[in-house]
Amino acid sequence: MSSLQNKQILVGITGGIAAYKSAELVRRLQDQGAEVRVVMTKAAMEFITPLTLQALSGNPVHTELLDPEAEAGMGHIELARWGDLLIVAPASADFIARLAQGQGNDLLSTLCLARRSKLAIAPAMNQAMYANSSTQDNLSLLEQRDIAIWGPAVGSQACGDVGPGRMLEVDELVDKAAAQFQSGLLAGKRVVITAGPTREAIDPVRYISNHSSGKMGYALAQACVEAGAICELISGPTQLATPPHCQRQDVESALEMHAAAMSRSNDCDIFIATAAVADFRPVHSADQKIKKQADSDTMIIEMVKNPDILADVASSEHAPFCVGFAAETQDVEHYARSKLEKKNLAMVIANDVSQQGIGFNSDDNQVLVVDHESSSAIEKLSKTALARRLVEEISKRYNKSAP
Ligand code: C5P
Repeated sequence: MSSLQNKQILVGITGGIAAYKSAELVRRLQDQGAEVRVVMTKAAMEFITPLTLQALSGNPVHTELLDPEAEAGMGHIELARWGDLLIVAPASADFIARLAQGQGNDLLSTLCLARRSKLAIAPAMNQAMYANSSTQDNLSLLEQRDIAIWGPAVGSQACGDVGPGRMLEVDELVDKAAAQFQSGLLAGKRVVITAGPTREAIDPVRYISNHSSGKMGYALAQACVEAGAICELISGPTQLATPPHCQRQDVESALEMHAAAMSRSNDCDIFIATAAVADFRPVHSADQKIKKQADSDTMIIEMVKNPDILADVASSEHAPFCVGFAAETQDVEHYARSKLEKKNLAMVIANDVSQQGIGFNSDDNQVLVVDHESSSAIEKLSKTALARRLVEEISKRYNKSAP
């Protein structure tokens, strides 16, 4: 279940070209199960009509502070109390200045003053306006008042400038909104996650590897941080950015990953192995680039088995709560269960990689959670949404097992 399920979110829209993205924001919040009401400033209505947002949100759009008809429906104080979260996106430089001064000269600024919920703003403006010291001072003041500042992003702007000032993408805003409702399920727990592929050197320029993107491990790291964990990623080579507030150690080979994992094994509460570790490595990695042999059409590379990182962590003294992943093409539950027992794990997250569009190198995943007592299926979800669900599943079982 998404952490936005049944949440009441008030979306405030101020005047800026990014206002057109707010329509998508409303939709995506609703997709996650939130109920959304929209408040627009006068300037916002120059960019997008209330009718569009009314149709999308399924609720009347609120625009006026002193409107007897609107007040008869849901008055501004009632509206301020209604929301579990108030997001102003886009937040213009002018609105940010009014917020910093505590003005209540229109409906949205009044709601910000009267709210009981968390307030988050997504600044969007020309990069020079954003860089201006007045705006920067206003933003620092808002931050001190515990108002979350989401963004801005850096990039090309509608006016042709390039720099910081773009509104964050809708996906990022939805993720941040969801994170507001995260539970603290793993508060203070130390979690180590292996992620990505390993590279097994043949010579200084060649290696054997696989197509693992690392997305599942990185999404889990982010979800663990959102749940309050102190999280460390041990990562093979990936193209992914380190999730905020997460430590990351980069490794290349299975042996390096093994050494990094073993050095943490007694120092963490939960160990999650998502890495696609190469099962074998070349016996010898040549010191110099191997030359083509003119007299041979074949080449034989002798391989030796890599250590099983997860199994070694799970059988170490004072082993943490160990979670493995299993990518299978048939008899998923049977093979997952045998891994659970053979490697001495607490849980295995298994998926059927013969299915199109899930698992390895894709954005979605559909899994079976297997433990010593039962197994339960989780429907197809984005890796980000799945990671949050898995954190719930992991923390439930971890708490049961913890002394
Ligand atoms: O045995 P198999 O490779 O299918 O097991 C998959 C699980 O074991 C994954 O969690 C993977 O990260 C972990 N593993 C490991 N070290 C290996 C092989 C797999 O940690 N050498």
